[in-house]
Amino acid sequence: MEDRPMNEKMSLCDGYGRVIDYLRISVTDRCNLRCFYCMPASGIPFLPHEKIFSYEELLRIADIFINLGIKKIRITGGEPLVRNDVLYFIDQLGSRRSLEELTLTTNGTLLAECAHDLYSAGIRRVNVSLDTLNRKRYERVVGVDCFPLVLHGIETARVHGMRIKLNVVAMKGVNDHEFSEFVRFGIEKNIDVRFIEVMPHSGNTDIARDMYISSDEIFNALHKRFSLRPAENAARSTTARSFSVGESGIKVGFISAISHPFCAHCNRVRLMADGNFRTCLFSDSGINLKKVIERGARDEEIETAIKTAVMQKPFQHRLATTASALIMHRIGG
Ligand code: 5AD
Ligand code: SF4
Repeated sequence: MEDRPMNEKMSLCDGYGRVIDYLRISVTDRCNLRCFYCMPASGIPFLPHEKIFSYEELLRIADIFINLGIKKIRITGGEPLVRNDVLYFIDQLGSRRSLEELTLTTNGTLLAECAHDLYSAGIRRVNVSLDTLNRKRYERVVGVDCFPLVLHGIETARVHGMRIKLNVVAMKGVNDHEFSEFVRFGIEKNIDVRFIEVMPHSGNTDIARDMYISSDEIFNALHKRFSLRPAENAARSTTARSFSVGESGIKVGFISAISHPFCAHCNRVRLMADGNFRTCLFSDSGINLKKVIERGARDEEIETAIKTAVMQKPFQHRLATTASALIMHRIGG
């Protein structure tokens, strides 16, 4: 699909007037780690190959989204870097001129070997999931002894010029004594740190209840040790509350999906590897765009299907009050 001239560019709006300009694409539901709050160690029914978007289909859909006004795309998984030829796909996306930002969320295990190609493809910011700075504890969280590999991945990505943000899922009894250490690590390495409230899904309700720590608790603990000022240029639509740490140049953020839902400023939608288009992380309403493609739909019909689904984006999630049927490794957070 050709880019439309600038004056014909559309914007994608939902039924509550929110402008949707951020698309997260999960390229696979598979992962080479087994974080205990995300995936059980065995018995996971992964999607068969024929059920997931081909890159050709994904690029076609991505172009339609870009023409509808999507300005930022984040590649997620599962672990996106385990999918074959994903660097080809990212490189193709990186060549789309109207896209303002292309980013990646990864567990970091394959980052060292991919860093060069990711940078060449146009990736400048990478979120790395890292819930502890202790090697033994890391192994207990993810099921694999690969902490040094992740650190090496982070270091290599930095050397290539990418800005790193750590995603830390905060969990009582796991990493609640490490929050300050994470901030010190961030200052030392010039890396932003973001603490995420653990969210319930169909496979982790006990964990999410028993290990939950609110962002306010983390903030209060950090505030005693560090000078935290609300960050100046934090985008209104961002889901994280963000703070500058003294004069260090790094930011600390909090994703508080449970305690401070950010729905009113939500600007994002999600495309899952199996074709499901989710307009809210916590709602399984939406359509399957792979099936729409397979019916032989023209681009205009796909556009209409997307616009219709976006108009029905729910105003807010009810995560604190209802059990969710979220499958996190299929959605990519
Ligand atoms: N609650 C909060 N964060 C989660 N993630 C995965 N599962 C959960 C959960 N249940 C995080 C990952 C990754 C990000 C995409 O989502 O650690 O950093
Ligand atoms: Fe893999 Fe990320 Fe889930 Fe951990 S949280 S198992 S790294 S998809």
